[in-house]
Amino acid sequence: MEKREQLYEGKAKKVFATDDPTLVLVDYKDDATAFNGLKKGTIAGKGVINNRVTNHLMKLLEKEGVPTHFVKELSDRETLVKKVTIVPLEVIVRNIAAGSLAKRLGLNEGVKMAKTVLEFCYKDDALGDPMVNSYHIAAMGWATDEEMALISSYSLKINEVLSAYLRDLNIELIDFKLEFGKTADGTIVLADEISPDTCRFWDSQTHEKLDKDRFRRDLGGVEDAYHEIMKRLMGE
Ligand code: TMP
Ligand code: ASP
Repeated sequence: MEKREQLYEGKAKKVFATDDPTLVLVDYKDDATAFNGLKKGTIAGKGVINNRVTNHLMKLLEKEGVPTHFVKELSDRETLVKKVTIVPLEVIVRNIAAGSLAKRLGLNEGVKMAKTVLEFCYKDDALGDPMVNSYHIAAMGWATDEEMALISSYSLKINEVLSAYLRDLNIELIDFKLEFGKTADGTIVLADEISPDTCRFWDSQTHEKLDKDRFRRDLGGVEDAYHEIMKRLMGE
């Protein structure tokens, strides 16, 4: 497999073409942003941790019947994935009130909700990733109703698999963000990443934050938190 020209550079990853038109190479950076790119910084070693954690969790999800874009880890920071067209939505899954939901509904962070909450946001930094509903999604042609039914059911399944897996590692899965893509033959697969950048992970006992909120909120100990997650998941 040959790494070819760069196709895209995002805030946390770069994407390269390969000699196989159905596959691309993702290269994880240490760059960190928050608030739709307004806050910028670096988290040393983050690219390696997010690459390895994402692949570990995607392999687990594949085993549990959730299709993903994952193909093969190539190096500490590089992974081969299926080429997809990203559905331009951030799917947010919430078990415990935190972050923007706590703020919007006037809840204290840490309050368990009676039911899992799914939210959809239109991926557009300039607009601040506005929340949208199924009518907006169909009207704008971002995904069909059938595709959204599949995306919702995969998202809830992912929540069940990851919550149970993490609970055994003394990690509470508070909420997380997913992105889905469509392969050339129209199959919907989980794409992007699942990492401390895109999830809220709290220690089950102490409720210590082990995720990007340490960077967003200037809590210190950012690198240590990312390492702790990799250690609990992968033993190193
Ligand atoms: P929020 O409470 O700020 O809306 O975030 C909900 C979850 O989504 C949280 O686990 C962090 C994650 N997230 C991202 O991965 N990317 C984003 O751009 C935002 C706003 C949140
Ligand atoms: N993806 C967000 C950003 O645009 C970061 C975040 O809050 O997770 O910077």
